Amino acid sequence: LFQLLPRDKSRPPLVWHWIPVFGSAAGYGQDPIQFFLDCREKYGNVFTFVLLGRRVTVALGPEGNNFIMGGKHTVMSAEDAYTHLTTPVFGKDVVYDCPNEMLMEQKKFVKFGLRLENFRAYVSMIEDEVIQFMNKDSSFRIFQMNDINEWGRFDVLDAVSEITILTASRTLQGREVREAINKNYAQVFADLDGGFTPLHWLFPNLPLPSYRKRDLAQKKMSDLYIDIIRKRREAGNTSDEVDMIASLCNQKYRNGKVLEDHEIAHIMIALLMAGQHTSSATGSWILLHLAQRPEIVEEVYQEQVKHFRNPDGTWRSMEYEDIRQLPVLDCVIRETLRMHPPIHSIMRKLRDDVVVPQTLASPSEDGSYVVPKGDMVLSSAAVSQVDPLLWRNSFEWDPSRWADPEGVAQQAFKQYDDENGAKVDFGFGLVSKGTESPYQPFGAGRHRCIGEQFAYLQLSTVVATLIRRVEIKLETDMPKPNYQTMITLPKKPRNICYRRREFEQQA
Ligand code: HEM
Repeated sequence: LFQLLPRDKSRPPLVWHWIPVFGSAAGYGQDPIQFFLDCREKYGNVFTFVLLGRRVTVALGPEGNNFIMGGKHTVMSAEDAYTHLTTPVFGKDVVYDCPNEMLMEQKKFVKFGLRLENFRAYVSMIEDEVIQFMNKDSSFRIFQMNDINEWGRFDVLDAVSEITILTASRTLQGREVREAINKNYAQVFADLDGGFTPLHWLFPNLPLPSYRKRDLAQKKMSDLYIDIIRKRREAGNTSDEVDMIASLCNQKYRNGKVLEDHEIAHIMIALLMAGQHTSSATGSWILLHLAQRPEIVEEVYQEQVKHFRNPDGTWRSMEYEDIRQLPVLDCVIRETLRMHPPIHSIMRKLRDDVVVPQTLASPSEDGSYVVPKGDMVLSSAAVSQVDPLLWRNSFEWDPSRWADPEGVAQQAFKQYDDENGAKVDFGFGLVSKGTESPYQPFGAGRHRCIGEQFAYLQLSTVVATLIRRVEIKLETDMPKPNYQTMITLPKKPRNICYRRREFEQQA
């Protein structure tokens, strides 16, 4: 009933809801993108909705992205928004369970591990894992390579999730983790992952089995890494490993404190959780879209042929530098991340009242909205990336929009650029990485993703290796996105049909 009372005009408009406390949980949970677009129609770019007792204020559009992603980290706190979800899963003293300055240093340590010379070594490792997976080594045996005239079928998310964990463990996570990928590790990962859901974000501690399993799995996972680190230290760390553990050992904070074993272990878990579903989801959406567009698969394939097929018909291995020169594949990944950014909502919690810039939204010409301390604020690049006001044919998957510097994307942005004066850079397929960009699948600002290059390397290599060997097609409609998981995944059925390429059969 309080919704009928005269509203405090300095607060952003509140989204109407029937059930107190529950608020707009159904609309938001079902389809947050549509929910936000509908709310924008009614209330403008800034509005507040109630989500199971929490007040969440949303700021839309590139300026809304800028307001939140570029906000002061001391006021718009990521750790206050996330720590109750992440700390029981990652463990103590890392990421959001430490002061923000420490997280910044930890990100720097990780960046050191994600360096060029390591990336160069990763390409052939990833290629090798994918080939093994396709040929025989898959525990799920999704790819039973069959006769050339026979079409097989696989659940794309199951397949890509397995490929992602195999390739990430072989490269970033390291030899010992790759060797530990057996049923046991898979179960521990599944239990840990089962504790990383919207329910756990909303209710950090409930007396439910998934919470207990999460806590046990965290301990087991942490012990696994600590054991690896100790053994390596005992061996004198002399090996020439190119993985992240090797890079993190011996790192020191600026105050001279060394990164302790449990901190390294917990950073490794954080990286596992940060990369696994994001990359699996993206890889799945890429393959689903490709399977629906044979002419684009053909372009990807011909690009591979041009760069990597030897005169005798065998394939030359890819080098990291090569992968960066594949515009068709690059556009396919970029466009898929535009339509399916794995993270649809980025949250911060306000430690102080915050004034909304009048250019973004305001109650009157001389007034400003104030978002009160304690509110969550939410930025959604998933909305600005498909906003019909910004992109031509915004809901159409069209990789070519990125290839033409005079083309679709530029014109769409130019319009925005002219009218609002926002800075948007156009290089080949590049939109500004700034906090004001409408395109931010990897976030922006202080908390921006550091895994972007690794994700591109992994996705490019996996997709290229598959497309070289198999033809794919989709016999069903494009699966709908499931927004009820932390990461936006394709709903079932999500089967892709495949068969060996003729050329591969002969080779
Ligand atoms: C942060 C997306 C892969 C590590 C982020 C954020 C986004 C994102 C949107 C910002 C979160 C926020 O501001 O609250 C993605 C996507 C990926 C991907 C779309 C793959 C397609 C990875 C991988 C790693 C990784 C592979 C590790 C190797 C991180 C880290 C942060 C981050 C450490 C920083 C968190 C912070 O500073 O608060 N990612 N990510 N991500 N991501 Fe990724």
